[in-house]
Amino acid sequence: MFLPQEIIRNKRDKNILSNDEISFFIDAFATGQIPDYQMAALAMAIVLNGMSDEETAHLLKAMILSGDRMDWSALRKRGIPCVDKHSTGGVGDKTSLVILPLLVADGLAVPMVAGRGLGHTGGTVDKLEAIPGFMAQPGPEQFKNWLLARGGAFGAQTDRFVPADKKLYALRDVTATVESIPLITASIMSKKLAEDLDALVLDVKFGSGAFLQSSDAARELARSLVNAGKMAGCRVEAALTNMDEPLGRAAGHACEVVECLDILQGAGALDTRELSLQLAARAAVLGHQDTSQNAHEKAYTRMKNHLSSGRAHEVFIEIAEQQGAHVSALERSHSEWIDAGTVDLPVLISSKTSQRVKAIDTRALGLLLIEMGAGRKKKEDAVDHKVGIVEMKKVGELVEADEPVCFLRLRKNDVRADKLQQSASAAFTMVNGETSVESKPLIAEWII
Ligand code: URA
Repeated sequence: MFLPQEIIRNKRDKNILSNDEISFFIDAFATGQIPDYQMAALAMAIVLNGMSDEETAHLLKAMILSGDRMDWSALRKRGIPCVDKHSTGGVGDKTSLVILPLLVADGLAVPMVAGRGLGHTGGTVDKLEAIPGFMAQPGPEQFKNWLLARGGAFGAQTDRFVPADKKLYALRDVTATVESIPLITASIMSKKLAEDLDALVLDVKFGSGAFLQSSDAARELARSLVNAGKMAGCRVEAALTNMDEPLGRAAGHACEVVECLDILQGAGALDTRELSLQLAARAAVLGHQDTSQNAHEKAYTRMKNHLSSGRAHEVFIEIAEQQGAHVSALERSHSEWIDAGTVDLPVLISSKTSQRVKAIDTRALGLLLIEMGAGRKKKEDAVDHKVGIVEMKKVGELVEADEPVCFLRLRKNDVRADKLQQSASAAFTMVNGETSVESKPLIAEWII
């Protein structure tokens, strides 16, 4: 038997916690026997004094054990490996909607438990809920049936799925204890490993729109996530990717879904398409355990074929239909759910000559999206699925005089339109059109 305050004191005094101490604390917190204030105190001690790799691995294990773990042995018996992709999040980060069908088309199973928007970054569950009828928060039985039937399903964290993380994350959010590599590692990886995965690809973002802005911090997190996954027996690799500008040309729920549908039908934003293909190819190599010399190139070609043949699009429609989506809405190129009741207002950078986009304050655009109604100010807020930013110029692109850098899709009656347009315009730094601007690579490095 342990005393919670002794465990907190141990971490406060920079000692290594034993496995039993960690298990006791997490279990008692998840079941309500340790109050929030003691958990918050321990979280703060961890933020300040860190955790060893072994402590982190054990924290992760204790969090997984706090709830139900998925079990895909039935699929493994049929020779189908389970894989997933997780992103630390950003603005316009929508690759999950493309990657899941690509991987299912490649013969893999994808039990994707996604999240809602966090801070200035968007979440897959909110995006999917923009599609009329889409049930993005199934119960565990429903999720299991969908996955077994179609090989892929989108879900969200429930009260039985890593409850220790659900409680702890909410507490960290309001006690300034989010920024800790061990706590983030245990939080992200507990949810992914509770999915019973064979392989996982992580997209760890850095830059002005990322949760960790410096590439050094993102690298440290990526190493910690990969290490924790491997210690738990999962094949994991992480890409460090650039979030110095929004991904794609659209940000906001319905408009991001449309961008993904375009990609699945052979068009769409090139950066989103390329990142989706690269991440899916890595996940496929890890999932199929392809150790041949040019495994990645072969997987990348297969992914491109799944797009060009229309198979990935078909898979997305089948999965969306299974999850209750009104498929007729997805078949029409322009329908009610996308933009009814909204207006697209141009965002201009006043100039008499052509200009080039030098930089985009991506975090500012993320915060602007919250202001527009696409994100939440409080956890319980509803989001507006239709508002967003569309036709965004990318860093390095030329903008002719009086050509918009993007359009704000706002509710027709939004009286703040002028102010919102000004804020959007201020997020774009422009240079003379003759000046060349180097665009950064999408994937800076792989951590394997
Ligand atoms: N996302 C998570 O799921 N957990 C964290 O701690 C941070 C980001």
